[in-house]
Amino acid sequence: MDYAQTGREAQARIESAADLDALEALRVEFLGKQGSVSGLLKTLGKMTPEERKEKGPEIHGLRETVSNAIAARKDALEVAALAAQLAEQTIDLSLPAPDAPTGSVHPIAQVMDELAEIFADLGFAVASGPEIEDDWHNFTALNMPESHPARAMHDTFYFPDRDAQDREMLLRTHTSPVQIRTMLDQGAPLRIIAPGRVYRSDSDATHTPMFHQIEGLVIDRDIHLGHLKWTLETLLKAFFERDDIVLRLRPSYFPFTEPSVEVDTGFSFVDGRRVVGGSGDDAGHSWMELLGSGMVNRNVLIAGGLDPDEWQGFAFGVGVDRLAMLKYGMNDLRAFFDGDVRWLSHYGFSALDAPTLSAGVGTPA
Ligand code: DAH
Repeated sequence: MDYAQTGREAQARIESAADLDALEALRVEFLGKQGSVSGLLKTLGKMTPEERKEKGPEIHGLRETVSNAIAARKDALEVAALAAQLAEQTIDLSLPAPDAPTGSVHPIAQVMDELAEIFADLGFAVASGPEIEDDWHNFTALNMPESHPARAMHDTFYFPDRDAQDREMLLRTHTSPVQIRTMLDQGAPLRIIAPGRVYRSDSDATHTPMFHQIEGLVIDRDIHLGHLKWTLETLLKAFFERDDIVLRLRPSYFPFTEPSVEVDTGFSFVDGRRVVGGSGDDAGHSWMELLGSGMVNRNVLIAGGLDPDEWQGFAFGVGVDRLAMLKYGMNDLRAFFDGDVRWLSHYGFSALDAPTLSAGVGTPA
C-alpha cells in the first residue's frame, strides 16, 4: 500500500470539504474508532518487528498528514464563517447611542439649596441637629413642659425605650430643637438656619409622616419684630423671584415665641394654580398661611443658656415641601417621597442647569 498516495488523496478530500459538518464526517472516516487510518494503526501490533520498523513511520506519518490537514481545513472554514458573518451583519456606527439615564436633583433638595443661598446672602450660617432627638430638646427646652397641651398637637413618634441617660427619645417633630442646641453650642449673637427632616404621625394629600422644615434663629442685643418682617419679606421675594410679595402678620400662639405671629402671604389662582403675589385683600386674591414665627420666648433663651435681659431675637419655622409645591406647581405632597422616576424626571432639576439665584438678594430683577 502506498501510504503517501493515500495521504495525498485524503488531503485532497479534506481540503475540499465544503463545511464543518463535511469535515467532521471525514475526520470520523479517517481517524474515528472505525476509521481507515485508525485501522492501519491497529495492524502495527500484528506485524513482525522488521515490518513494523519499516511501516510504522509511514503509517504514523499518514496519521499526522491527515490530522494536520483536518486542523488546517477547520481553521480555514472557521475564518471563512466569521468573515461571512461579518460581511452579513454590518454594524452601523452612525446610529446614536441609547440614552444613558441621568439623575436629577429632587425638588426638595433644589429648594433647600435655593433657601440656603438666599440666607447665606443675609449672613446666616447653616446649623444642624439630630433627627433622633430627646424629649428635652424637642419640647421641654422650647417651653413645652410635660403635659403641655401643645405636645399633643405634634403626633410624635416616640421610641419604646429610653436612652442610656434615661431620656425619653423621639423623632424630632420640628427643627426648633436646633435652636436650643445652637444656643448652647455657640452662644450669642447668632444668625442661623437649620434645614432638615422632621417627623409626625400624619398622612394625607398634604401631610407625609416625614417632611422638611427650615428653622431660622437670630439672636442679638436689639432685634425686634421689624427685623423679622424684613427678613421674611426679603426671603420670599428672592425665593419666588417677584417683588410684589405682601405679607400679613397675624397674632398667634407658639410656646417658644412671645409674641407669636403667623405669616400669611397673598396669592391668586392662575390657570388653576396658586401663584404667590399681591395682597390677599386685592381683588381676586386671598391670604394663605405660610409659616410660624415670633420673638424668642425668655424661657427658651434661658434653656439655651442665654441671659434674656441681655439677648433677644426672632425665630421662624417654615415647611420646605410646601414652598416647593407653591413655587414649582406640584399638588400632591406624597408624590415627593414615592421615588417614582417618572415624577422625578418631570419635576427634578438638572444638576448643571437648575435655576439658581446667583443674582443674589437685593439685586433688582
Ligand atoms: N416649630 C413650629 C412647627 O413645627 C414652627 C415654628 C413656629 C417655628 C414658630 C418657630 C417659630 O421657630 O418661632 O409647627
